[in-house]
Amino acid sequence: MRGPVSSLLPDFPWDTIASAKARAAEHPDGIVDLSVGTPVDPVDPLIREALASVAEVPGYPATHGTPELREAAVAALARRYGITGVEPAAVLPAIGTKELIAGLPRLLGLGAADLVVIPEVAYPTYEVGALLAGARIARADGLTQLGPQSPALIFLNSPSNPTGRVLGVDHLRKVVAFARERGAIVASDECYLGLAWDEPAVSILDPRVCDGDHTGLLAIHSLSKTSNLAGYRAGFVTGDPALVRELLAVRKHSGMIMPFPVQAAMTAALRDDAHEARQRDRYRARREVLRKALQDAGFRIDNSQAGLYLWSTRGENGRTTLDWLAARGILAAPGDFYGPTGTAHVRIALTATDERIAAAAKRLTAD
Ligand SMILES: Cc1ncc(COP(=O)(O)O)c(C=O)c1O
Repeated sequence: MRGPVSSLLPDFPWDTIASAKARAAEHPDGIVDLSVGTPVDPVDPLIREALASVAEVPGYPATHGTPELREAAVAALARRYGITGVEPAAVLPAIGTKELIAGLPRLLGLGAADLVVIPEVAYPTYEVGALLAGARIARADGLTQLGPQSPALIFLNSPSNPTGRVLGVDHLRKVVAFARERGAIVASDECYLGLAWDEPAVSILDPRVCDGDHTGLLAIHSLSKTSNLAGYRAGFVTGDPALVRELLAVRKHSGMIMPFPVQAAMTAALRDDAHEARQRDRYRARREVLRKALQDAGFRIDNSQAGLYLWSTRGENGRTTLDWLAARGILAAPGDFYGPTGTAHVRIALTATDERIAAAAKRLTAD
Protein backbone atom coordinates (compact mmCIF):
# COMPACT_ATOMS: atom_id res chain seq x y z
CA MET A 1 0.00 0.00 0.00
CA ARG A 2 1.17 3.51 -0.75
CA GLY A 3 2.25 5.53 2.30
CA PRO A 4 3.72 8.98 2.82
CA VAL A 5 7.33 9.08 1.57
CA SER A 6 8.36 11.08 4.61
CA SER A 7 7.50 8.09 6.79
CA LEU A 8 10.48 6.28 5.23
CA LEU A 9 12.83 8.97 6.46
CA PRO A 10 14.38 9.52 9.88
CA ASP A 11 12.75 12.01 12.24
CA PHE A 12 14.06 15.51 11.79
CA PRO A 13 16.23 15.62 14.91
CA TRP A 14 16.53 19.38 15.43
CA ASP A 15 13.28 19.45 17.42
CA THR A 16 15.08 17.48 20.14
CA ILE A 17 17.42 20.40 20.90
CA ALA A 18 14.65 23.00 21.19
CA SER A 19 14.90 23.12 24.99
CA ALA A 20 18.71 23.51 24.88
CA LYS A 21 18.22 26.31 22.37
CA ALA A 22 15.67 28.07 24.59
CA ARG A 23 18.01 27.73 27.56
CA ALA A 24 20.97 29.15 25.57
CA ALA A 25 18.83 32.05 24.36
CA GLU A 26 18.26 33.12 27.97
CA HIS A 27 21.91 34.21 28.27
CA PRO A 28 22.00 37.98 28.98
CA ASP A 29 24.50 38.50 26.15
CA GLY A 30 22.47 36.39 23.72
CA ILE A 31 22.87 32.92 22.26
CA VAL A 32 26.01 31.80 20.45
CA ASP A 33 24.55 29.35 17.97
CA LEU A 34 27.24 26.91 16.85
CA SER A 35 24.79 24.13 16.02
CA VAL A 36 24.58 24.63 12.27
CA GLY A 37 27.22 25.14 9.59
CA THR A 38 25.60 28.08 7.88
CA PRO A 39 27.93 30.82 6.60
CA VAL A 40 27.63 34.27 8.21
CA ASP A 41 30.13 36.34 6.22
CA PRO A 42 28.82 38.31 3.25
CA VAL A 43 29.09 37.03 -0.30
CA ASP A 44 32.10 38.58 -2.04
CA PRO A 45 31.25 41.60 -4.26
CA LEU A 46 32.86 39.90 -7.26
CA ILE A 47 30.31 37.10 -7.01
CA ARG A 48 27.36 39.42 -6.35
CA GLU A 49 28.24 41.49 -9.41
CA ALA A 50 28.41 38.39 -11.58
CA LEU A 51 24.95 37.35 -10.32
CA ALA A 52 23.44 40.77 -11.04
CA SER A 53 25.16 41.13 -14.42
CA VAL A 54 22.86 38.57 -16.05
CA ALA A 55 19.70 39.27 -14.07
CA GLU A 56 17.87 40.44 -17.21
CA VAL A 57 18.41 37.23 -19.19
CA PRO A 58 14.95 35.68 -19.73
CA GLY A 59 15.55 32.27 -21.30
CA TYR A 60 15.88 28.77 -19.86
CA PRO A 61 19.38 27.93 -18.71
CA ALA A 62 21.10 24.67 -19.68
CA THR A 63 21.00 21.81 -17.17
CA HIS A 64 24.62 21.17 -18.07
CA GLY A 65 25.54 24.76 -17.19
CA THR A 66 27.36 27.20 -19.46
CA PRO A 67 30.63 26.14 -21.13
CA GLU A 68 32.29 28.92 -19.07
CA LEU A 69 31.06 27.39 -15.83
CA ARG A 70 32.37 23.95 -16.75
CA GLU A 71 35.75 25.34 -17.84
CA ALA A 72 35.98 27.38 -14.64
CA ALA A 73 35.28 24.28 -12.55
CA VAL A 74 37.94 22.23 -14.33
CA ALA A 75 40.51 25.02 -13.89
CA ALA A 76 39.62 25.54 -10.20
CA LEU A 77 39.93 21.82 -9.44
CA ALA A 78 43.39 21.78 -11.02
CA ARG A 79 44.58 25.02 -9.40
CA ARG A 80 43.18 24.49 -5.92
CA TYR A 81 43.44 20.73 -5.47
CA GLY A 82 45.79 19.35 -8.15
CA ILE A 83 42.98 17.38 -9.77
CA THR A 84 43.86 16.68 -13.39
CA GLY A 85 42.21 14.94 -16.32
CA VAL A 86 38.68 16.27 -15.79
CA GLU A 87 36.83 16.88 -19.04
CA PRO A 88 34.63 19.99 -19.00
CA ALA A 89 31.77 17.82 -20.30
CA ALA A 90 32.07 15.78 -17.10
CA VAL A 91 31.07 18.74 -14.91
CA LEU A 92 27.40 18.97 -13.94
CA PRO A 93 25.96 21.80 -11.80
CA ALA A 94 23.80 20.97 -8.79
CA ILE A 95 21.31 23.26 -7.07
CA GLY A 96 23.35 22.93 -3.91
CA THR A 97 24.87 19.53 -3.33
CA LYS A 98 22.31 18.41 -0.76
CA GLU A 99 19.72 17.84 -3.46
CA LEU A 100 22.24 15.95 -5.56
CA ILE A 101 23.26 13.70 -2.66
CA ALA A 102 19.64 13.04 -1.65
CA GLY A 103 18.79 12.17 -5.25
CA LEU A 104 21.96 10.36 -6.28
CA PRO A 105 21.10 6.73 -5.44
CA ARG A 106 17.78 7.11 -7.27
CA LEU A 107 19.36 8.97 -10.20
CA LEU A 108 21.84 6.11 -10.54
CA GLY A 109 18.98 3.61 -10.67
CA LEU A 110 19.58 1.97 -7.29
CA GLY A 111 16.73 0.12 -5.64
CA ALA A 112 15.80 -2.49 -3.05
CA ALA A 113 18.45 -4.97 -4.16
CA ASP A 114 21.27 -2.48 -3.66
CA LEU A 115 23.50 -1.69 -0.74
CA VAL A 116 24.70 1.85 -0.05
CA VAL A 117 27.66 2.34 2.29
CA ILE A 118 27.79 5.52 4.35
CA PRO A 119 30.28 6.62 7.04
CA GLU A 120 29.59 5.49 10.61
CA VAL A 121 28.93 9.03 11.74
CA ALA A 122 27.75 11.00 8.76
CA TYR A 123 26.01 13.95 7.23
CA PRO A 124 22.40 12.66 7.37
CA THR A 125 21.62 13.14 3.67
CA TYR A 126 23.56 10.02 2.56
CA GLU A 127 21.09 7.90 4.52
CA VAL A 128 18.18 9.93 3.18
CA GLY A 129 19.33 9.37 -0.42
CA ALA A 130 19.59 5.64 0.11
CA LEU A 131 16.18 5.48 1.81
CA LEU A 132 14.51 7.47 -0.97
CA ALA A 133 15.83 4.89 -3.44
CA GLY A 134 14.60 2.04 -1.22
CA ALA A 135 18.16 0.73 -0.94
CA ARG A 136 19.79 -1.01 2.03
CA ILE A 137 22.31 0.88 4.14
CA ALA A 138 25.53 -0.14 5.88
CA ARG A 139 27.39 2.26 8.15
CA ALA A 140 31.09 1.47 7.85
CA ASP A 141 34.38 3.33 7.99
CA GLY A 142 36.48 0.27 7.13
CA LEU A 143 36.13 -2.07 4.19
CA THR A 144 36.62 -5.21 6.32
CA GLN A 145 33.34 -4.33 8.09
CA LEU A 146 31.57 -5.09 4.81
CA GLY A 147 32.65 -8.73 4.64
CA PRO A 148 31.79 -10.35 1.32
CA GLN A 149 29.05 -7.84 0.46
CA SER A 150 29.20 -5.96 -2.84
CA PRO A 151 27.79 -2.45 -2.40
CA ALA A 152 26.38 -0.55 -5.35
CA LEU A 153 27.43 2.83 -3.99
CA ILE A 154 29.93 4.01 -1.38
CA PHE A 155 29.61 7.52 0.02
CA LEU A 156 32.83 9.04 1.32
CA ASN A 157 33.14 12.38 3.05
CA SER A 158 36.66 13.65 3.63
CA PRO A 159 37.12 16.03 5.39
CA SER A 160 34.13 14.74 7.32
CA ASN A 161 31.08 16.45 8.63
CA PRO A 162 30.80 16.05 11.62
CA THR A 163 34.16 14.63 12.71
CA GLY A 164 36.63 16.65 10.63
CA ARG A 165 38.48 13.42 9.89
CA VAL A 166 40.64 13.40 6.78
CA LEU A 167 41.15 10.22 4.74
CA GLY A 168 44.68 9.94 3.42
CA VAL A 169 45.85 8.85 -0.03
CA ASP A 170 46.40 5.23 1.08
CA HIS A 171 42.93 4.88 2.56
CA LEU A 172 41.31 6.40 -0.53
CA ARG A 173 43.36 4.16 -2.85
CA LYS A 174 42.09 1.10 -0.98
CA VAL A 175 38.49 2.25 -1.33
CA VAL A 176 38.95 2.82 -5.06
CA ALA A 177 40.55 -0.64 -5.52
CA PHE A 178 37.79 -2.30 -3.45
CA ALA A 179 35.05 -0.47 -5.37
CA ARG A 180 36.52 -1.47 -8.71
CA GLU A 181 36.85 -5.10 -7.63
CA ARG A 182 33.22 -5.26 -6.50
CA GLY A 183 31.62 -3.02 -9.10
CA ALA A 184 30.67 -0.18 -6.73
CA ILE A 185 30.42 3.51 -7.56
CA VAL A 186 32.28 5.82 -5.17
CA ALA A 187 30.62 9.18 -4.48
CA SER A 188 33.07 11.38 -2.63
CA ASP A 189 31.48 14.40 -0.96
CA GLU A 190 34.27 16.99 -0.97
CA CYS A 191 32.32 19.89 0.52
CA TYR A 192 35.18 20.74 2.96
CA LEU A 193 38.19 19.91 0.77
CA GLY A 194 39.24 23.56 0.67
CA LEU A 195 39.19 23.86 4.47
CA ALA A 196 42.08 21.68 5.62
CA TRP A 197 44.00 22.84 8.71
CA ASP A 198 46.29 20.23 10.25
CA GLU A 199 46.45 17.74 7.39
CA PRO A 200 46.20 18.11 3.63
CA ALA A 201 42.95 16.74 2.24
CA VAL A 202 42.90 15.00 -1.13
CA SER A 203 40.18 14.37 -3.67
CA ILE A 204 39.09 10.95 -4.85
CA LEU A 205 40.08 12.25 -8.32
CA ASP A 206 43.63 13.09 -7.20
CA PRO A 207 46.02 11.26 -9.53
CA ARG A 208 47.76 9.79 -6.47
CA VAL A 209 44.47 8.18 -5.49
CA CYS A 210 42.98 7.02 -8.79
CA ASP A 211 46.04 6.95 -11.09
CA GLY A 212 44.20 9.31 -13.43
CA ASP A 213 41.35 6.86 -14.04
CA HIS A 214 38.00 8.39 -13.06
CA THR A 215 35.91 5.33 -13.94
CA GLY A 216 33.24 4.70 -11.31
CA LEU A 217 34.22 7.79 -9.31
CA LEU A 218 32.20 10.92 -8.60
CA ALA A 219 33.44 13.96 -6.68
CA ILE A 220 30.79 16.29 -5.27
CA HIS A 221 31.81 19.90 -4.70
CA SER A 222 29.80 22.57 -2.90
CA LEU A 223 30.48 26.29 -2.98
CA SER A 224 28.32 26.85 0.10
CA LYS A 225 31.15 26.90 2.62
CA THR A 226 34.29 27.79 0.67
CA SER A 227 32.65 30.74 -1.15
CA ASN A 228 29.80 31.51 1.30
CA LEU A 229 27.23 30.57 -1.34
CA ALA A 230 24.85 28.48 0.78
CA GLY A 231 22.04 30.92 -0.04
CA TYR A 232 22.69 30.83 -3.79
CA ARG A 233 22.56 26.98 -3.93
CA ALA A 234 25.69 26.23 -5.93
CA GLY A 235 27.64 23.03 -6.36
CA PHE A 236 28.62 20.48 -8.96
CA VAL A 237 29.47 16.86 -9.49
CA THR A 238 32.29 15.59 -11.67
CA GLY A 239 34.38 12.49 -12.33
CA ASP A 240 33.47 9.52 -14.52
CA PRO A 241 32.28 11.04 -17.84
CA ALA A 242 29.84 8.19 -18.48
CA LEU A 243 28.22 8.50 -15.05
CA VAL A 244 27.98 12.29 -15.33
CA ARG A 245 26.42 11.93 -18.80
CA GLU A 246 23.81 9.63 -17.32
CA LEU A 247 23.08 12.00 -14.43
CA LEU A 248 22.78 14.85 -16.93
CA ALA A 249 20.31 12.90 -19.04
CA VAL A 250 18.03 12.19 -16.08
CA ARG A 251 18.35 15.67 -14.59
CA LYS A 252 17.53 17.27 -17.96
CA HIS A 253 14.24 15.39 -18.05
CA SER A 254 13.50 16.30 -14.44
CA GLY A 255 14.17 20.04 -14.73
CA MET A 256 17.00 20.00 -12.19
CA ILE A 257 18.44 23.23 -13.58
CA MET A 258 20.70 25.69 -11.80
CA PRO A 259 19.32 29.24 -12.30
CA PHE A 260 21.31 31.22 -14.87
CA PRO A 261 22.36 34.05 -12.49
CA VAL A 262 23.69 31.42 -10.07
CA GLN A 263 25.63 29.83 -12.93
CA ALA A 264 27.25 33.21 -13.57
CA ALA A 265 27.96 33.72 -9.86
CA MET A 266 29.45 30.26 -9.54
CA THR A 267 31.66 30.81 -12.57
CA ALA A 268 33.04 34.00 -11.01
CA ALA A 269 33.59 32.23 -7.68
CA LEU A 270 35.44 29.37 -9.33
CA ARG A 271 37.69 31.76 -11.23
CA ASP A 272 38.78 33.67 -8.14
CA ASP A 273 40.89 32.14 -5.36
CA ALA A 274 41.43 35.35 -3.37
CA HIS A 275 37.96 35.48 -1.75
CA GLU A 276 38.22 31.79 -0.96
CA ALA A 277 41.59 32.29 0.76
CA ARG A 278 40.20 35.21 2.78
CA GLN A 279 37.29 33.08 3.96
CA ARG A 280 39.64 30.22 4.88
CA ASP A 281 41.70 32.66 6.98
CA ARG A 282 38.57 33.82 8.81
CA TYR A 283 37.68 30.25 9.71
CA ARG A 284 41.26 29.41 10.66
CA ALA A 285 41.31 32.28 13.17
CA ARG A 286 37.90 31.34 14.62
CA ARG A 287 39.01 27.73 14.93
CA GLU A 288 42.09 28.69 16.91
CA VAL A 289 40.09 30.78 19.38
CA LEU A 290 37.41 28.17 19.88
CA ARG A 291 39.75 25.17 20.01
CA LYS A 292 41.89 26.73 22.72
CA ALA A 293 38.87 27.78 24.77
CA LEU A 294 37.28 24.32 24.53
CA GLN A 295 40.51 22.63 25.57
CA ASP A 296 40.99 25.06 28.45
CA ALA A 297 37.45 24.21 29.54
CA GLY A 298 38.36 20.52 29.69
CA PHE A 299 37.01 19.33 26.35
CA ARG A 300 38.86 16.80 24.22
CA ILE A 301 38.73 17.49 20.52
CA ASP A 302 38.87 14.39 18.33
CA ASN A 303 39.83 14.33 14.64
CA SER A 304 38.85 17.82 13.38
CA GLN A 305 42.00 18.13 11.28
CA ALA A 306 39.89 19.88 8.64
CA GLY A 307 36.45 21.25 7.93
CA LEU A 308 34.16 23.59 9.79
CA TYR A 309 33.52 21.68 12.99
CA LEU A 310 35.23 20.75 16.24
CA TRP A 311 34.19 17.22 17.17
CA SER A 312 34.33 17.62 20.90
CA THR A 313 33.70 15.57 24.03
CA ARG A 314 33.79 15.91 27.81
CA GLY A 315 33.84 12.14 28.20
CA GLU A 316 30.10 11.99 28.91
CA ASN A 317 26.92 11.65 26.91
CA GLY A 318 26.78 14.39 24.29
CA ARG A 319 23.29 15.43 25.44
CA THR A 320 24.76 16.22 28.88
CA THR A 321 27.46 18.29 27.20
CA LEU A 322 24.76 20.02 25.15
CA ASP A 323 23.05 21.10 28.39
CA TRP A 324 26.38 22.22 29.93
CA LEU A 325 26.98 24.43 26.89
CA ALA A 326 23.38 25.70 26.82
CA ALA A 327 23.76 26.86 30.44
CA ARG A 328 26.55 29.10 29.11
CA GLY A 329 24.45 30.39 26.23
CA ILE A 330 26.12 28.20 23.60
CA LEU A 331 24.25 25.85 21.28
CA ALA A 332 25.98 22.86 19.68
CA ALA A 333 24.70 19.84 17.75
CA PRO A 334 24.63 16.54 19.64
CA GLY A 335 26.79 13.84 18.03
CA ASP A 336 23.91 11.36 18.02
CA PHE A 337 22.39 13.34 15.13
CA TYR A 338 25.06 11.81 12.91
CA GLY A 339 24.97 8.14 13.85
CA PRO A 340 24.89 5.74 16.78
CA THR A 341 28.65 5.95 17.41
CA GLY A 342 28.47 9.74 17.80
CA THR A 343 26.72 9.75 21.19
CA ALA A 344 29.70 10.87 23.28
CA HIS A 345 30.40 13.97 21.20
CA VAL A 346 28.99 17.33 20.28
CA ARG A 347 29.66 19.06 16.98
CA ILE A 348 30.69 22.67 17.39
CA ALA A 349 30.62 24.79 14.23
CA LEU A 350 33.10 27.54 13.35
CA THR A 351 30.44 29.38 11.37
CA ALA A 352 29.76 32.38 13.59
CA THR A 353 31.01 35.94 13.50
CA ASP A 354 34.32 36.84 15.18
CA GLU A 355 32.30 38.63 17.85
CA ARG A 356 30.15 35.56 18.65
CA ILE A 357 33.18 33.23 18.63
CA ALA A 358 34.94 35.55 21.08
CA ALA A 359 31.81 35.57 23.26
CA ALA A 360 31.75 31.76 23.25
CA ALA A 361 35.43 31.58 24.20
CA LYS A 362 34.90 33.98 27.07
CA ARG A 363 31.96 31.99 28.42
CA LEU A 364 33.78 28.67 28.09
CA THR A 365 36.73 29.86 30.14
CA ALA A 366 34.79 31.93 32.71
CA ASP A 367 34.40 29.15 35.33
C1 LIG B 1 29.14 17.00 4.20
C2 LIG B 1 28.21 17.92 3.53
N1 LIG B 1 27.86 17.67 2.28
C3 LIG B 1 27.00 18.47 1.62
C4 LIG B 1 26.44 19.56 2.22
C5 LIG B 1 25.42 20.35 1.45
O1 LIG B 1 25.80 21.56 1.07
P1 LIG B 1 25.00 22.37 -0.03
O2 LIG B 1 23.70 21.69 -0.30
O3 LIG B 1 24.81 23.70 0.56
O4 LIG B 1 25.89 22.35 -1.24
C6 LIG B 1 26.78 19.87 3.52
C7 LIG B 1 26.19 21.03 4.19
O5 LIG B 1 26.30 21.26 5.35
C8 LIG B 1 27.69 19.03 4.20
O6 LIG B 1 28.05 19.26 5.46
